[in-house]
Amino acid sequence: MTSFLSVEQLTQRYPDGDGGELTVFENASFGVEKGEFVVILGHSGCGKSTIMNILAGLSEATEGVVIMDGAELSGPSLDRGVVFQNYSLLPWLSTLKNVTFAVAARYPDWSREQVIAHSKKHLEMVGLNSDVFNRKPSQLSGGMRQRVSIARAFSISPKLLLLDEPFGALDALTRGTIQDELLKVWAGTEQTVFMITHDIDEAILLADRILLMTNGPYARVAESVDITIPRPRSRTEIVDHPNYYAIRNHLVQFLGIRSKEMAGKTDNADNRPQTVHIDELSRSATNRSKIAI
Ligand SMILES: Nc1ncnc2c1ncn2[C@@H]1O[C@H](COP(=O)(O)OP(=O)(O)OP(=O)(O)O)[C@@H](O)[C@H]1O
Ligand SMILES: [Mg+2]
Repeated sequence: MTSFLSVEQLTQRYPDGDGGELTVFENASFGVEKGEFVVILGHSGCGKSTIMNILAGLSEATEGVVIMDGAELSGPSLDRGVVFQNYSLLPWLSTLKNVTFAVAARYPDWSREQVIAHSKKHLEMVGLNSDVFNRKPSQLSGGMRQRVSIARAFSISPKLLLLDEPFGALDALTRGTIQDELLKVWAGTEQTVFMITHDIDEAILLADRILLMTNGPYARVAESVDITIPRPRSRTEIVDHPNYYAIRNHLVQFLGIRSKEMAGKTDNADNRPQTVHIDELSRSATNRSKIAI
């Protein structure tokens, strides 16, 4: 079976600055299904942003291909929406225009009224109202700016939404509120999301599946952990689910110990992540050998 998004044998090498070569990751392969929310976790420097930039079409892998919806990716496209940690809003445009400009590019046949109505709807979905529509990004708080980025990304209904630590610069309270908003907005769509975070609890709250990367160089996507907690999820209730701490412990163990032990090793001939399915309810924690792709 072919996945909606198929990352095949992706390798990234950079000059190491000393005349040699740094292999960030080698032959990384994984799939993402349509409508899935996948989060990738791994230590700093293992290559998460590099993978995201390749998926966004902003950089090219040394080797390997990425196939989305049956076609090989090449270059950036409105098919893929990206939200970076540092907001990436256009500073000279108002809040509303930062969204309408993307919507107008995505739907060139729409009337001005349609573009504005659609943009306002998405800004309202993330909790922004007309008070801030005419403000420039510099006149917004960090949390508000990130809401604008998220509204803009959803407003163009990209086939794939890429989020690189979108909440990294926010304080814990704002972060929590925006996580809730992201979940609400996402629940009403069939949006496929690929997200990077360093926050384990955020990953469990949001993801259908968490991909775990070993440390670099020669990093690889070693495991794919199913988040066996039903939706809708809320930050306050999720911790009571019997699977929550079992999953959390597994992730902490991986990041604390196994990501180092497994670094640079390949125990899986085709280099695909092992599926980990933890279900305390049926008292079975099984490791199936391969992920279907
Ligand atoms: N353009 C480049 N030239 C040379 N090396 C690079 C380049 N971009 C990234 N690297 C190296 O590739 C490795 C992976 O970087 P990347 O930014 O993908 O890591 P990351 O997993 O996103 O880390 P973090 O969690 O800190 O954001 C690092 O060792 C980095 O120094
Ligand atoms: Mg990064």
